[in-house]
Amino acid sequence: MKSEIIEPTGCLTGGIEVPGDKSISHRVLMLASLADGESRIHGLSKGQDVKHTMEILSSLGVQLDEIESDVLHIQGGALKEPSERLYVGNSGTSIRLMSGILAGLPFSATLDGDGSIRKRPMERIIEPLERMGATISCLDTPGVAPFRIDGGGLKGIEYQMEVPSAQVKGCLMFAGLFATGDTTVIEITPTRAHTEELFEEVGLDVDATSTSVTVKPGQPKPFIHKVKGDPSQAAFWVVGATILKGSEVSIKNVYTGHARDGFIDVLLRMGADIIRDPVTNDLNVASSELVGTVVEEAEIPGLIDEVPILAVAAACADGETYFKGLGELRFKESNRLETIVSEIGSMGMKAEISGDDLVIQGGKLTGGQVDSHGDHRIAMSCAIAALVSTNPTEISGWEAVSTSYPDFIADLDALRK
Ligand code: S3P
Repeated sequence: MKSEIIEPTGCLTGGIEVPGDKSISHRVLMLASLADGESRIHGLSKGQDVKHTMEILSSLGVQLDEIESDVLHIQGGALKEPSERLYVGNSGTSIRLMSGILAGLPFSATLDGDGSIRKRPMERIIEPLERMGATISCLDTPGVAPFRIDGGGLKGIEYQMEVPSAQVKGCLMFAGLFATGDTTVIEITPTRAHTEELFEEVGLDVDATSTSVTVKPGQPKPFIHKVKGDPSQAAFWVVGATILKGSEVSIKNVYTGHARDGFIDVLLRMGADIIRDPVTNDLNVASSELVGTVVEEAEIPGLIDEVPILAVAAACADGETYFKGLGELRFKESNRLETIVSEIGSMGMKAEISGDDLVIQGGKLTGGQVDSHGDHRIAMSCAIAALVSTNPTEISGWEAVSTSYPDFIADLDALRK
């Protein structure tokens, strides 16, 4: 296990490009693989999660060639039965979205992942995919990976999601491409809309309202896509620049679409100085004093991955910040509701869990020894907390950061003064 020691720092200044959006990267790879012809993708995420999706698509017979360091060339078309288990590593998006595709294809494939993936709930996709006609067999324990999918012969369904989840919505939308008839997913609380946006971009028939999305069967057209910067990675620098006095940071070309920019609204409410440039999509941030706020349950799907770093902002704010309805955080790469409190808590954050709510009292962070619990976002949130702490922080399990942001330390070194 790798450890990283992060020293307190003065301020962050300068311009930075964050990695390509991870959620979009998975989806464009999958769509390009289904398209009949050659697609080009610029600026994919270089994290391990996206590499796992690429390896899986390659095991399914898709040809992926890097033609320049930043451009991937994909020859899609006919996917074939894999000869080996498909391994997603730590990636929930890979396993859930690929399940939708595999459910539609007329062969068997087995999906598996690391220890964290094997604990994450899969019944939320298994049940609707079986209703569409797929046969899914969990090989060790009911409701979790590894599982085998015997796909093909799907019919469209209307499905109301029990939990707000863009992964479940995306899974069923991909399956809908192979079904007879329409597939409709109803969501009470809107989640990120990447699947809808990208389906439309590649010529698929998709009809989205604020509470539902309907997909007709179809095949994507080959396309060229430039992946924008990942707002979930930008959030680390946005909070870092906000809480470190004297900071001024510009984060280039960040995706801030539907249900991905909720963290900006919360930070603005807390008093942050963040300006979005509507032309360049840059986020320009200067340091400011924060005050506590209440984050309502309906806001959570729009900032689901940013709760750990928002907890760091709350720990540095004046007064109390109250997050409502964080139950879904228990099912992320770690039990994030627990790991936020245990790890940032051991750096001096005063927080307590009340049912599914999290209450944080602002104060001073001291730093200390923490563990990532294999969760990239916990590791990086602790790293940002370490910058404002009074003492250095040692973060063990640092290798988890490569899941989404292998160049995090290089970017930190470029910004810190
Ligand atoms: C994702 C959706 C979210 C998010 C995950 C990526 C996606 O999960 O936490 O990191 O790409 O669709 P849920 O929609 O399951 O909450």
